Amino acid sequence: MTGGPALTGAPPEGAAARVRVSLAERSYDILVGNGLRRRFAAEIAPVLARPRAIVVTDENVAAPYLAPLMADLAAAGVKADSVVLPPGEETKSFAHLERLTGRCLELGLERRDTLIALGGGVIGDLAGFAAAVLLRGVGCIQLPTTLLAQVDSSVGGKTAIDMPGGKNLVGAFHQPGLVLIDPETLDTLDRRQRLAGYAETVKYGLIRDRAFFEWLEANGRAVVDGGGDARVRAIETACAAKAGVVARDERESGERALLNLGHTFAHALETATGYSDRLLHGEAVAIGMCMAFDLSAELGWTGGQEAARVRAHLDSVGLPTAPAAVEGLGLTPAAAIGLMRRDKKVTDGRIAFVLVRGIGDAFVTAAVEEADLEAYLSGVLG
Ligand code: NAD
Ligand code: GLY
Repeated sequence: MTGGPALTGAPPEGAAARVRVSLAERSYDILVGNGLRRRFAAEIAPVLARPRAIVVTDENVAAPYLAPLMADLAAAGVKADSVVLPPGEETKSFAHLERLTGRCLELGLERRDTLIALGGGVIGDLAGFAAAVLLRGVGCIQLPTTLLAQVDSSVGGKTAIDMPGGKNLVGAFHQPGLVLIDPETLDTLDRRQRLAGYAETVKYGLIRDRAFFEWLEANGRAVVDGGGDARVRAIETACAAKAGVVARDERESGERALLNLGHTFAHALETATGYSDRLLHGEAVAIGMCMAFDLSAELGWTGGQEAARVRAHLDSVGLPTAPAAVEGLGLTPAAAIGLMRRDKKVTDGRIAFVLVRGIGDAFVTAAVEEADLEAYLSGVLG
């Protein structure tokens, strides 16, 4: 595993791993450790500009985790309020942004106050965006509680809400001041959601770190189902990989686009299924990553055995690996291409794809001819 230069490995009290995101004056730490939630408040208090915060969470996460956090913040001398929102992607909306920002102002939020996002990617993206725009920008701390949020969305400062025309279309880059990850919080998350986050974990191996992929082949089940220290190690490696990419390309002018491996296909599948529970984002990414490997093989960039190996691993943990796994998808190749054209990364009408030369060697290209894409999609979508 490359681990990356951002991994300092210096464990603070209580043996958490520390990953640094190096962005000059916007640099911050990510701490990962089993049981870390019992030290969240102690880690948060010293980094606040003043001891005043608003915790944003959803009903599912509030039930097990909000009361202890509020009590610990109070004990650490932080005056904190909380806002509890309904769970689900629908919460990442303009309506909820308006309610959340309005509530924060009613609570007397000031410029040196901090929003604390306690939850999955929905809460992280919404609270992060609220922090970016409230009073032209207040601090934000991320306490991610899904595997997807722990390996991806809580790190790197992308914040957004969804619009009727598509996901994440209104947002801002706003880096958090601290990210605290307790993998034990995944014990209350259902397995399907953990698997969805696992797809985004595998992504880092497929992009740049073949050794990490090979380690996941041996340890994937323990990461998903919670055996030993495997989760901590996988999350730490994923965060270090993401920290490195974000430090080199914060605003996605180049390398950061690699983190979208599989996502162009995934977004088409998610749009076709209405961004519903029929297909979770991570499930769509698992299928999309297999499609990116298949298309790369069809175009001669990599061998078919690499695609087969990726599919075999994702399949072995229980993730879907082909569009045929989505019941009643009803997506034609032409409709799929139409949806891909609405991707944020389309430039001058050309769709940008993340393709691969093999496991651990991804690259971005806008040079895929539509005829080749259509021929490939005709084979998999029927
Ligand atoms: P989510 O936030 O909706 O969480 C999934 C479900 O799990 C929800 O019902 C939630 O209430 C529940 N939950 C969360 N933590 C729990 C816990 N520990 N125990 C029990 N239940 C828990 O979904 P998600 O998959 O975490 O995030 C998806 C969102 O992330 C999407 O909106 C996507 O666009 C966004 N995202 C953002 C980035 C980024 O870089 N900002 C990257 C990837 C994805
Ligand atoms: N999840 C992709 C990114 O943060 O760029």
